[in-house]
This record gives sequence, C-alpha cells and structure tokens, in this order.
Amino acid sequence: MQHQPLTIAVLAGTTRRQRQSIKVARYIAEFGRKLPDITIIFVDPVELHLEGDGNDPEGKDPKYTLVTEEADAFFVVTPEYNHSFPGSLKRMLDSELANYNHKPVAFAGVSDGNWGGTRAIEALVPAVRETGLVVMSWDVYFPYVPTLFNDDGNLKPEYEERYEKSLTKLYAELIWFASILKTARNQSKENEQ
Ligand SMILES: Cc1cc2nc3c(=O)[nH]c(=O)nc-3n(C[C@H](O)[C@H](O)[C@H](O)COP(=O)(O)O)c2cc1C
Repeated sequence: MQHQPLTIAVLAGTTRRQRQSIKVARYIAEFGRKLPDITIIFVDPVELHLEGDGNDPEGKDPKYTLVTEEADAFFVVTPEYNHSFPGSLKRMLDSELANYNHKPVAFAGVSDGNWGGTRAIEALVPAVRETGLVVMSWDVYFPYVPTLFNDDGNLKPEYEERYEKSLTKLYAELIWFASILKTARNQSKENEQ
C-alpha cells in the first residue's frame, strides 16, 4: 500500500553501559531507514535529561518533546527487567502525554534468555494504552540477544532472514496504522478550525 511520508521514533529502552538491547534498537532503526517515505528518529535515553518524575514542564526534555510531536508512530525496544520494562523507558514515556494520543506503537522485546522480553511487553501494554497510543496485535522478539549480533554490532547472517521477515510484517502494520491515524488526526484538526 502506498502511504504518505511518515516519521517513526525508535525508542531504545535502557541506559546501562553494557546494554545489549541497543544493538536491537539500532538494527530496527536501520531497517526502518531503508523503507520508502519513512523518516526514522532514533531516541537513546542516555542522551535525554529528564529530571524528577511526571510530565510537568521542568520534568520534560525539549528534545524528546519535539520527537513526540514529530513522530507519527513509535517503535519501542524493551529489554525485560524483573518481568517488566526498564525504569528509563517508563520515565521517557511518562514525560509526555498528549503527543502520544492516537498514534500507533510497535514493540520489540529483548532478553538474554528464552523469554525474548515477552513479559516486559505485556507490562508495557496497559501503560501505553493509558497514554492513548494504539498497540499493534503482535511483536518481534530477540531472545538470547548476546548470541544474535557480531562484535561489530551487526546481526549475524544466519538470523537475517528470520528478522527481515518479522520486521517487514510489523513495520507494514505500524505504517498502515500510522498513515490512517495521521489522516484522521489532521481531519479532526481541520474540523476544529
Ligand atoms: C535488572 C535486570 C533484571 C532482569 N530481569 C530479567 C527478567 O525478569 N526476565 C528476563 O528474561 N531477563 C531479565 N534480565 C536479563 C535481560 O533481559 C538481559 O540482560 C538484557 O540484555 C537486558 O537488556 P540490556 O542489556 O539492554 O540492559 C534482567 C537484566 C537486568 C539487568
């Protein structure tokens, strides 16, 4: 399906120095950059300054506010931390509210064992639902993450076919929702004027 130009924000989910999920986030961002009429904004929580909690003006990072304004969709990469998602990701999500409304979100789950971040994603669903983000009905999982990438950070060739297939499908779904919802949001704005 042809679609209008769209911007997708890929959110890396964690900040620890030895983080593995950043490789997944970069792979997903690079994958998206190859798609026609898609602009990818890569968001690394290490580069944000989000003071305190909540979404008061002093608790926002203007850089992230701008990203959430510009984004037509979000692709969240979350590792699993104690059967949930990391605090950095929650902090990032909490710092904004209205800019998420009526926009779609896809999830990639990451773990070093066999769960692939499934429980982190299940924990994310009710939190993002409250923000007005529209959740896709399937995800992509990266279990055993330390074994998936070469030292240079590239996905090992033996995994390429599997992830190209699942990411092509999930990006297509995300783009479908992003395009339809963008048209509807613009229509609502025109009707209000
Ligand atoms: C604090 C912490 C808690 C974790 N809890 C879980 C867990 O509950 N389930 C799981 O499958 N993996 C768990 N893991 C393993 C992570 O999924 C794995 O280390 C992954 O690489 C973490 O992402 P990161 O490397 O980007 O920080 C945990 C790791 C950390 C650091």
